[in-house]
Amino acid sequence: MCGVVAVIGKAEASSLVIEGLKKLEYRGYDSAGIASLDKKKLQVLKSEGKLTNLVNQFDLLISKKSYNDTEIAIGHTRWATHGNVSIENAHPLTSDNKVAVVHNGIIENYASLKKTLISEGYVFSSVTDTEVIPHLFTKYIKQGNDFLESGKLVLKVIKGAFAFIAISVDFPDQLFVSRNSSPIAIGIGDKCNFIGSDAQSIAHLTKRIIYLEDGDYALVKNETLDIFDAQSNIVDRQIIHVNSDIGLINKGGYKHFMKKEMFEQPSIIPQTIGSLFNEDQSININLDKLGFTNKSSLTICAAGTSFYAALIGKYWIEQIADIPVLVDLASEYRYRKPSVFGQTSILVISQSGESLDTLMALRYGKELGLTTTAIVNVTGSTIDREADYSLHTKAGPEIAVASTKSFTSQLIVLFLIAVSLGKKFNNIDANKVNKIKQYLNMLPLALANMLKLEDQIIALSQQIKNSKSVIFLGRGYMYPLALEAALKLKEISYIHAEGFAAGEMKHGPIALIEDGLPVIMFIISDGYEDKSISNLQEAHSRGAKVIVIGDEACLKKASFAEIKIKIPDIDDEFKSLLSPILMAIPAQLLAYHVSRERGTDIDQPRNLAKSVTVE
Ligand code: AGP
Ligand code: GLU
Repeated sequence: MCGVVAVIGKAEASSLVIEGLKKLEYRGYDSAGIASLDKKKLQVLKSEGKLTNLVNQFDLLISKKSYNDTEIAIGHTRWATHGNVSIENAHPLTSDNKVAVVHNGIIENYASLKKTLISEGYVFSSVTDTEVIPHLFTKYIKQGNDFLESGKLVLKVIKGAFAFIAISVDFPDQLFVSRNSSPIAIGIGDKCNFIGSDAQSIAHLTKRIIYLEDGDYALVKNETLDIFDAQSNIVDRQIIHVNSDIGLINKGGYKHFMKKEMFEQPSIIPQTIGSLFNEDQSININLDKLGFTNKSSLTICAAGTSFYAALIGKYWIEQIADIPVLVDLASEYRYRKPSVFGQTSILVISQSGESLDTLMALRYGKELGLTTTAIVNVTGSTIDREADYSLHTKAGPEIAVASTKSFTSQLIVLFLIAVSLGKKFNNIDANKVNKIKQYLNMLPLALANMLKLEDQIIALSQQIKNSKSVIFLGRGYMYPLALEAALKLKEISYIHAEGFAAGEMKHGPIALIEDGLPVIMFIISDGYEDKSISNLQEAHSRGAKVIVIGDEACLKKASFAEIKIKIPDIDDEFKSLLSPILMAIPAQLLAYHVSRERGTDIDQPRNLAKSVTVE
């Protein structure tokens, strides 16, 4: 699920592949490996854990002249789906010492294929689903097929979501690559070609990129590239020139990408806002393309943090535009036979543009006859390309697994969709729209001020770093934010955390409260703060360690709280309307600093991947 890279026709191909794998590291992985061809001999290196383990092994072999860095190599970072993390299960997986394959995704019918191959005498050395691929190649090559024909036969029998690259000692000048749902970019060089899971992984080698479409496969040689579609027609795919700085991503002096990305928010949010306004100050969102020629309801699908953004979007769109919004987890949508009665449009939200669950929801929406729109950060990603209409967040590359700046950028787009719909269907007047524009202008400074809470959040982090569990409570907009705060904390600090609607506590979760359990509430004066504070009081009465992050008025009302953090003074209406964007900052800072105190791997937390390309 994490990454594949390949190089053909360029000296020191293995070193270049490793460079490419480094650029995919941020996606999260558990083992890595490379394979190359040296005069009809297959060389394979694999390691568990971080890429540095592979690099050390590689450097040692090179220094001992025991590895020949030739002109053809493939590489992989694995995020285990089938089989534990081990050298045996790491890719490349081989067959007969002749074929090597790197694969991202899942071969769904691997069990029956494996059974047949075993009965035919093939010996499996891993427990992965992937290993059927190299054995199938061997089988078809032995039957007298060339590499391309063998690849085609493999594709006929395997089912699932995959991107794979194969090499064979029998065809030392060829790479076979195929994509089905998982992304693949091919880079065109001068008498050499490159393959990567995304453009960024090969942008140090070429700026000329072709994205394979779903079902495409290709035979890649030094000087030729033959691409076929799912029906085996030879096809031309457009060459895109990628930005020259795409490969130059660094931490900018920060210790972690996550910290850099949190602190970028005041400067990148204006970019997303700017892109959504025309020169005449009208909102640059095409509501017809969005499927809103007439008023109807809207479905939004997404996963993880993007799903929580969708929930906040629902609150805004219903409040500001009076349009009913249904929010679905992307992974559920196509499996629960949703009704589209009265609907014309589905909106999906994805930072990476590659989450398979979200992509499948988009495709299913299309099948159901809905107009599809995507809010997406990575331009050129699969979701971006497949949606009828895309609205781009301009957050720039987000490297840390934990989404931060992409979340607040998604919120900006959702907020402006709400305003745009509200205007079109006369639910808000021009004065209100002007006021909102002023608020958006004030937002970057307000976010910068929120970031100044860092020292207080560090102090709070020290108080909760040893907790076994943390509860976040919120009402209104602060409810989805409580869910997001809990996800952020659990994914990088590994502390169990849950978010609940404040009013829901008494219906069950309050049973969890015991002495000293941290219960955290983000709260601002929004008209229902008294109710929320009562819910907090209920937790306090049962021994919880109550922590409130809110405006001055709320903190006064919640005087019983053990820890109080006051947010900067901000205009009441502004604060109330845009509270999810503002309060995202302390939620992110808290997760970051608790994790830092605990010494976890913040940018690449265990078991997680940045691009989740399996279902
Ligand atoms: C965010 O912190 C998470 N790592 C994760 O929940 C993420 O938001 C989710 O996997 C969806 O990703 P996407 O936005 O790239 O589709
Ligand atoms: N399903 C394969 C495995 O478990 C590939 C996983 C991946 O996408 O990295 O080895």
